[in-house]
Amino acid sequence: MKEHFDTLDTRTAQALLGGGADRIAAQHKKGKLTARERVDLLLDEGSFQEIGQLVTHRSDNFGLADQKFLGDGVVTGYGTIDGRLMYVFSQDFTVLGGSLAEAHAAKICRIMDLAMQNGAPVIGLNDSGGARIQEGVVSLAGYADIFYRNVRSSGVVPQISAILGPCAGGAVYSPALTDFVMMVEGTSYMFVTGPNVVKTVTHEEVTSEDLGGAGTHATKSGVAHFTAPNELDAIRQLRQLISYIPSNCEEEPPVFLFTPGDESRPALDTIIPDNPNQPYDIREVLNAVIDPDSSMEVHAEFARNMVVGFARVAGRTVGCVANQPANLAGVLDIDASTKAARFVRFCDAFNIPLLVFVDVPGFLPGTDQEWRGIINHGAKLLYAFSEATVPRITVITRKAYGGAYDVMNSKHIGADMNFAWPSAEIAVMGAKGAAEIIFKGEIAKASDPAAKWQEKEAEYKEQFANPYEAAARGFVDEVIRPSQTREKIIAALDMLRNKVHTLPKKKHGNIPL
Ligand code: HXC
Repeated sequence: MKEHFDTLDTRTAQALLGGGADRIAAQHKKGKLTARERVDLLLDEGSFQEIGQLVTHRSDNFGLADQKFLGDGVVTGYGTIDGRLMYVFSQDFTVLGGSLAEAHAAKICRIMDLAMQNGAPVIGLNDSGGARIQEGVVSLAGYADIFYRNVRSSGVVPQISAILGPCAGGAVYSPALTDFVMMVEGTSYMFVTGPNVVKTVTHEEVTSEDLGGAGTHATKSGVAHFTAPNELDAIRQLRQLISYIPSNCEEEPPVFLFTPGDESRPALDTIIPDNPNQPYDIREVLNAVIDPDSSMEVHAEFARNMVVGFARVAGRTVGCVANQPANLAGVLDIDASTKAARFVRFCDAFNIPLLVFVDVPGFLPGTDQEWRGIINHGAKLLYAFSEATVPRITVITRKAYGGAYDVMNSKHIGADMNFAWPSAEIAVMGAKGAAEIIFKGEIAKASDPAAKWQEKEAEYKEQFANPYEAAARGFVDEVIRPSQTREKIIAALDMLRNKVHTLPKKKHGNIPL
């Protein structure tokens, strides 16, 4: 028997060493952890159970017969985060550059299938040179098998991708199909074609970092939801993200301990500036309303005129969506609309109530936005809110103008409780522009047109730039003092806890993509 045990021990030791000591040292030298170190840090200590440690590829092409590594360049299995079941795969760059082919892909598919059957999240730690070139078309087939499962799993179990090294070619599409993408500054990049191909085709000179580094995807493309200065911080953030979300679409998010106290927040009564055109930071409002230090912003550097993220109110997860008056006056543009729409759909898929703060002057005008399709992109947000069946609460703090009022979780598109602060202005447009249009003739004929314009502006403001016209029609359920906001939201969330709302029977809707 000892002989058998020795064989097993030798194979296990070999598998644990991945591509060997030299390649592990090279990985560390780049500031990167190994696949196994990452898994150990991500999961609760000692909880990882490996699946498929002894799997190898079956190819003899281009010298691969002499390059068989136990595990085939990916560590797969399950474990726990804060005691909750998670499935994990972690690509091992020390083995054939973490490249993916038949066996490697089959291992990933296996844990994705288990995750679906058992209703638990999948976390993918990506660090790979892409399709294993020597294995040819089976590598492409392997990717497609994963993409297919990504789509089947979407909305059933949460899927989270961390990019911890290269991610190129069609390989980027698996992370793109998952719910959240985390990137590490300086050591990770994602692109469909790398700098060399770009140079050949478009003659542009660009570095990997500029083309597809963490900064680029966090600010310009929006592909990355989160970035981290190093892998340790990335893993800490992944664990935090998991704390807000349920394990599958039939569960509720985790509940944290909450001791009720004085929920009034007097500081909110002075947060809105006297001048309606003066900005303020909506994060200050959000931070006052949510449980202290309970937030995790999503897409913090992308489309900063919209703030989205997770937080807790009275110990329970909420998804916050808020216009940001401190950036572009909180206007709705293409990026803000798509950012918020995707977040709303994630929250709705995973039973996370939506808390929406509105201060929006309208949609951004101009040829750039129109030609790039603000009509379609703005409609995504309208669609996402209208389709959402989770509890939905809106607070209008100041401006709610035009179509943007309708879009931002208005009563008309299915919000459950709509509050407005006394400073709310709910109207078709700003008083100045409105007066210019509807009183054009009267202003032109006046002996002092400027004075007339001012008079008409004041008249329009008096009638519409307030919350009372909307409250009179029941479009706003209650006009509240800002300091009451947290207590009102706690009560409303409590009241809506057992909300049941089903959509009409259909195969699926047709969101304007
Ligand atoms: C096989 C690969 C590989 C690959 C890397 N390696 N990528 N082996 N298939 N795709 C191997 C290298 O040969 C090398 O082996 C080891 O991994 C480490 O790679 P290095 O090049 O030494 O590392 P580094 O300098 O850090 O560069 C990393 C890299 C580079 C930027 C990822 O390796 C690279 O450009 N690789 C090719 C990327 C690529 O074109 N992939 C295909 C994309 S298309 P040795 O033994 O020499 O050390 C694609 C299609 C997917 O993925 C389609 C899905 C639909």
